Amino acid sequence: MTAQIIDGKALADELRQSFKARVETLTAKGHKPGLVVILVGEDPASQVYVKNKVNGCLAIGMHSEKIVYDREVDQQVVLDKIAELNADPAIHGILVQLPLPKHFDEEKVLEAISVEKDVDGFHAENVGALSQGAPRFIPCTPYGVMKMFEKGNVDLTGKEAVVIGRSNIVGKPMAMLLINAGATVTVCHSKTKDLNFHTKRADIVVAAVGKPKFVKGDMIRLGAVVIDVGINRLPDGKLCGDVDYADCLEVAGQITPVPGGVGPMTITMLLANTIEAAERKAG
Ligand code: GUN
Repeated sequence: MTAQIIDGKALADELRQSFKARVETLTAKGHKPGLVVILVGEDPASQVYVKNKVNGCLAIGMHSEKIVYDREVDQQVVLDKIAELNADPAIHGILVQLPLPKHFDEEKVLEAISVEKDVDGFHAENVGALSQGAPRFIPCTPYGVMKMFEKGNVDLTGKEAVVIGRSNIVGKPMAMLLINAGATVTVCHSKTKDLNFHTKRADIVVAAVGKPKFVKGDMIRLGAVVIDVGINRLPDGKLCGDVDYADCLEVAGQITPVPGGVGPMTITMLLANTIEAAERKAG
């Protein structure tokens, strides 16, 4: 068996194309969607992500800007900037790139963002809304994964889903979305005693561990849907996921590649959330 590939790049292109008309309509009504991305420090991976986020907006006619602070900046400076952006009618989405330097209180910063502009969906109120099954903003990466299930015609109802990773950014919201969609969900992580026991019986495996080629073919069940959220850089400079793609290709029923899988979908759903925020404001 060779797995069917769920092409995130193609789906992302298709969706971004469809967003252009919504952006045009909003712009004509005086509500051009605007996203501000705040970056603290010079982490090279974060710099690339932020650049791609801003360029993704500009490519479909949205307004976007990045604000970069030195890693030593006082937290209050960032909080003051967020307050200013909260009050700015031209800005519909505010994103603070994570991780923040150690001297920051991450929760305090995320909580400072207006719930109406929290396009990452990381504010406690928005996390609560998602867990109650009435999301206002769905965190971009798991939102992208849900769109990929849709694209691959993966019916989640009653399925055994295993999420590897329990981060606030991916693992936890992913588990919530799968529960809301009717799956039976197990969340595994670094302390899980027998990971293979869980992954072997799963219809769906979502890997968000941050370890290159961690999920091997003998860890999954024949025909499983394998979603790879990882983006790791190998010593030779090449990108690879958390799934050993070549090893799983003959075992999985459906699989996502890296690059060209979940990655392009994450930014696409950020654009979707920002457009949605502008549409809510436009009424
Ligand atoms: N760092 C890694 N992924 C993300 C994300 O989706 N949003 C933010 N704000 N920071 C991140």
